[in-house]
Amino acid sequence: MITTAEKQTLDALIATRQAEHSLPGRFYRDELVFRADLEAIWQREWLFAGHSCEVARSGDYFTWQVGDDPLIITRDEQGELHALFNVCRHRGTLLCESPAGQQRRFVCPYHQWTYAPDGSLVSCRGMHDVDRASLGLLRAQLRELSGLIFVSLAERPPPFTEAAERLLPMLAAQGLERARVAQQIDYEVQANWKLVWENNRECYHCNVNHPQYIRANFDHYNEDDTTAAIRQQIEQAVQQHQTRAVESGVAITHRESGMTLFPDPDAGLWYSANRTPLVDGFVSESMDGRQVAPLMGDYTNPEVGTLRMRTVPNFWNHSSCDHSVSTRLLAAGPRRTLIRVTWLVDREAVVGRDYQLERLLPFWQLTSEQDWKLCERAQRGIESSRYRPGPYSRYKEYNVDRFVRWYLHRLSAGCTETRVPRS
Ligand code: FES
Ligand SMILES: [Fe+2]
Repeated sequence: MITTAEKQTLDALIATRQAEHSLPGRFYRDELVFRADLEAIWQREWLFAGHSCEVARSGDYFTWQVGDDPLIITRDEQGELHALFNVCRHRGTLLCESPAGQQRRFVCPYHQWTYAPDGSLVSCRGMHDVDRASLGLLRAQLRELSGLIFVSLAERPPPFTEAAERLLPMLAAQGLERARVAQQIDYEVQANWKLVWENNRECYHCNVNHPQYIRANFDHYNEDDTTAAIRQQIEQAVQQHQTRAVESGVAITHRESGMTLFPDPDAGLWYSANRTPLVDGFVSESMDGRQVAPLMGDYTNPEVGTLRMRTVPNFWNHSSCDHSVSTRLLAAGPRRTLIRVTWLVDREAVVGRDYQLERLLPFWQLTSEQDWKLCERAQRGIESSRYRPGPYSRYKEYNVDRFVRWYLHRLSAGCTETRVPRS
């Protein structure tokens, strides 16, 4: 727990941030800041854990870790999802080590206390006098939203209902709850989690670093380099989309150049979703712009642009008519972020018959890996004694500034709340 003296150190550090400049180096490498990030943000906010299709059947589970807290997502015999602390209630041993699988029971390897997928303790070998009902696995809050599983470790997590109401109409047509995982790639990126977000919140770097991405999208054109011709292309793409898109819930919501504004540090908004047009000739974020898998969800027509969503502190997703790509971040150290990229397709789609991984993966695999390299290079430079915070572009890095302000606000508020003694 962050002490009063440490909170003072953090407040002093926060005060050194120069407006519209990158953060002082300690934010990206300091052990104290990392502990404060975990306490104020990762243990409080809604975190994206994974997809409900990863635990489609009763008994399916996967494990993951938030800071020092190992967790299991399970589906019980009634089909209910649970977020359980992966910690035996006998003497605390890590209960399940596998990344994912199918289990009717979780048996602790130490003394064989045995738990059902809903977390209840079903047997504790030879200990007849314990109150089993009070020794179930401890649980975190879980909400499922259109096939996306969000978990909060907080006792009183931020409100979820409003997020669900706002996101659901945007997500519904994509049918993520009727998807399957086509591929999952795990990365260990040697960079602070905030650098990964800062990279994600601007497309200033896209022209040079993401040749495949800029062919499909308009968001690297910012206010200062959007020519009349580009404006016309965007308008045309929107018009074509509105004429061809026959389904409901697929209207383009972002029709300007540049990225949609997110996050909102003043309103504290932690989620957003929007639909953007693709460049003419592209119906999917694929290397050649063509469809790479069968249509997903309610779509009857590939002209749906891209649905994009993101939730701080750990999730973003780009969905085309035929596939969806989720990115989950887990802060694993001051200089280390674990990233999982998951490709989803319709659950009826069969690999080799309906889609080929060689066509499905490259667009986002390349884009992701190009980004991770940049983040690692940024980290290496920031480690230098001669790193100095540099200025953000108002035209191209407005969202980086928004992210940093959201972060500092949460950091400051989160650590303060922690020091209020709990009744
Ligand atoms: S620690 Fe798990 S059964 Fe003893
Ligand atoms: Fe990028």
